Amino acid sequence: MTNVYPSTHPLVAHKLTKLRDKKNTDPKKFRELIREISALLTYEVTADMRTKPVSVETPLARTEGLEMKEPIALIPILRAGLGMVEGVWSLMPSAEVWHIGLYRDENTLQPVEYYNKLPIEPTVSVCLILDPMLATGGSAIATVDLLKRWGVKRIKFVGVIAAPEGINTLHKHHPDVPIHIASIDDNLNENGYIVPGLGDAGDRQFGTG
Ligand code: PRP
Ligand code: URA
Repeated sequence: MTNVYPSTHPLVAHKLTKLRDKKNTDPKKFRELIREISALLTYEVTADMRTKPVSVETPLARTEGLEMKEPIALIPILRAGLGMVEGVWSLMPSAEVWHIGLYRDENTLQPVEYYNKLPIEPTVSVCLILDPMLATGGSAIATVDLLKRWGVKRIKFVGVIAAPEGINTLHKHHPDVPIHIASIDDNLNENGYIVPGLGDAGDRQFGTG
C-alpha cells in the first residue's frame, strides 16, 4: 500500500493492545491511551514537516537552530477524534483546532455532517485529520472533500485503527492524503465495524456504550 504508514513502534503496539481490551480498559484508561498513542503518532506524522532556520542565544553563545515553518491545524472528527487532540497538542501546543461534526448513519453507513465552523478562508497550510477509526472511509473522505474545498493544500489523516476497505476507498478518492495509523486490521463486519478493532471508539471514550 502506498502512502500508508502503519506505526512499527513497540510502544504504540503495547498501548494499542491495552486500548482494544474491553475487560480491563474503562473510559478513563481508554482516553489516556488514545492521548498517548496520538502523541506517539504525532512524532511520526511530523517527520517531513518543513522547518526554517532560527538564531538563539544559549547562556554561552549564539547558535543557529530550526523551528517549524508551517502553521498546522488539527481537524478532529467529532466525537471520537476529540480524544486525540490533547495528545497531538502535547507536542504541538500552538496548532489550531477546527472541529468537524460527522456521524455515520446506522443503516446506510454514510457520513452525516452536523457541525462545521470553518472560516471562509483557510488559516493554515497543513491539516491533520484526527479520527481513531477509518472503517468504510466515508467520514474521512467527506472531511478531506470539505478541507480541499476550503483550500488547504496539504492534508494528512491520523488514526488509530484502519480497515483495508477504508484505506482503499480513501485512497481511491484522495491518493495524495497520507494515512498514518497505529494498526491495519483484518476487515469490516456486516455492520461496518472494524474486526478485531476496539468497538465503538466514541462510546468507549465517553462511556456512552
Ligand atoms: C466513527 C469514527 C469515524 C467513523 C468511521 O464515528 O469515529 O468518524 O465512525 O467510520 P467510516 O470510516 O465508516 O465513516 P461515529 O459515526 O461512530 O460517530 P461518533 O464518533 O460520534 O461516535
Ligand atoms: N466506528 C467505530 O467507532 N468503530 C468501528 O469499528 C467502526 C466505526
